[in-house]
Amino acid sequence: MSWFGNWYYVNEDQREGSCEKASVEMGEITNVTEYQAIAKEKLPKMVYDYYASGAEDQWTLAENRNAFSRILFRPRILIDVSKIDMTTTVLGFKISMPIMIAPTAMQKMAHPDGEYATARAASSAGTIMTLSSWATSSVEEVASTGPGIRFFQLYVYKDRNVVAQLVRRAERAGFKAIALTVDTPRLGRRESDIKNRFVLPPGLTLKNFEGLDLGKMDEVSRPTYLATPHPFVHAARSHAIFTVQANDSGLASYVAGQIDRTLSWKDVKWLQSITSMPILVKGVLTAEDARIAVQSGAAGIIVSNHGARQLDYVPSTIMALEEVLKSVLIPTPIELKELCKLPFASALESQSHCCLSLACLVSNEQSVFQVVKGAQGRVPVFLDGGVRRGTDVFKALALGAAGIFIGRPVVFSLAAEGEAGVKKVLQMLRDEFELTMALSGCRTLSEITRNHIVTEWDAPRGLPAPRL
Ligand code: FNR
Repeated sequence: MSWFGNWYYVNEDQREGSCEKASVEMGEITNVTEYQAIAKEKLPKMVYDYYASGAEDQWTLAENRNAFSRILFRPRILIDVSKIDMTTTVLGFKISMPIMIAPTAMQKMAHPDGEYATARAASSAGTIMTLSSWATSSVEEVASTGPGIRFFQLYVYKDRNVVAQLVRRAERAGFKAIALTVDTPRLGRRESDIKNRFVLPPGLTLKNFEGLDLGKMDEVSRPTYLATPHPFVHAARSHAIFTVQANDSGLASYVAGQIDRTLSWKDVKWLQSITSMPILVKGVLTAEDARIAVQSGAAGIIVSNHGARQLDYVPSTIMALEEVLKSVLIPTPIELKELCKLPFASALESQSHCCLSLACLVSNEQSVFQVVKGAQGRVPVFLDGGVRRGTDVFKALALGAAGIFIGRPVVFSLAAEGEAGVKKVLQMLRDEFELTMALSGCRTLSEITRNHIVTEWDAPRGLPAPRL
């Protein structure tokens, strides 16, 4: 059975196995990673590869996972952990746990319910879903699934009118924040998409573009991408969105034509001028950019390498996290001067969970007093990339993240079991995270500190102090 009707048979020769192979026996799933193998069996090769692959050598793809295994625990014992509270607040919205859903494009390729199923699963888990602007369901359709806290992911196009329309649509549909993706001036080279000549399957469209005035976007794309109609050219509102070119993936063709390579920090300010939604900057990996993001008015930062799909050989996000957090939380000398005018007590009252962790983290370099003051009015930092276990969530929080997002586990579980699969992924991560908290002696998120973990880049512990 295929989700795509006829399209399945068109692509059958691309698959590794036969039709029967698609009916996978599912024993009891006991962890998130198991869904990947099921998705591989169930999905057409082109779709599975699109979801699974990273850029070029896929070094960062492996590193996103491997790096977590180089962080170990320092659990505390004999603490009453009979009650564990995982609730937290993100941009003022209370959620049941610090585990949220990252934007992943085109979810109806995984399951006919696509983004509807993800929205329902997120909502019933009491957490946030981020909808990709390249979703196969529109913001209105996702909103129609019922109440839920949802963010809208945005790429910025050359035609700002298109961007403004998308933002307005999301706002009207009740979305609460924009996740502005900033690591994609060009699409990374995913070689399997090139080999497979990736295309959006027939019958699916990028729904958020339907009904928009695509004005200049068409003019920009027509000479290059619409000149020669191709049997694999599909449409969003009868405008070609994906094409196949000899030496390129169809997706890259689209992005190359539409995404604005001139995007810069001033556009973050422009975006703030057209929406009252807070803006999370998604794709920050360095201290320098984190600082500029804060200065540019970002409401939050997502440390992300786009699931290792953009620049290969960037560090894993869990390795980059601490650099970003330190830079965001430690004030510059000028800021410090300003902050010192504030009464210490009020600074303490308003600190967030992630500020607390960082206060511990940097206590050797700056006084906790300074850092807590520096954190006043600053932004939460989130992470995505390679999170597959509750222990990974704990490690990210111990390093100072305010929460994490998951990408591939959602599309793989969607492919396997639709909405029930996504629900199960969220539940498994929740259960594992709760267990990790209990076994580490933490009852609330604010009790998770840097001292609960040790990383390979920490100073060796237990060595004699150097002689002075
Ligand atoms: C993505 N990601 C992504 N990011 C974004 O800003 N807009 C998008 O449309 C997409 N689409 C997308 C599709 C697929 C198939 C993947 C795997 C990823 C990146 C995504 O938001 C997130 O950064 C990563 O997926 C997180 O890594 P993990 O959890 O997949 O390892």
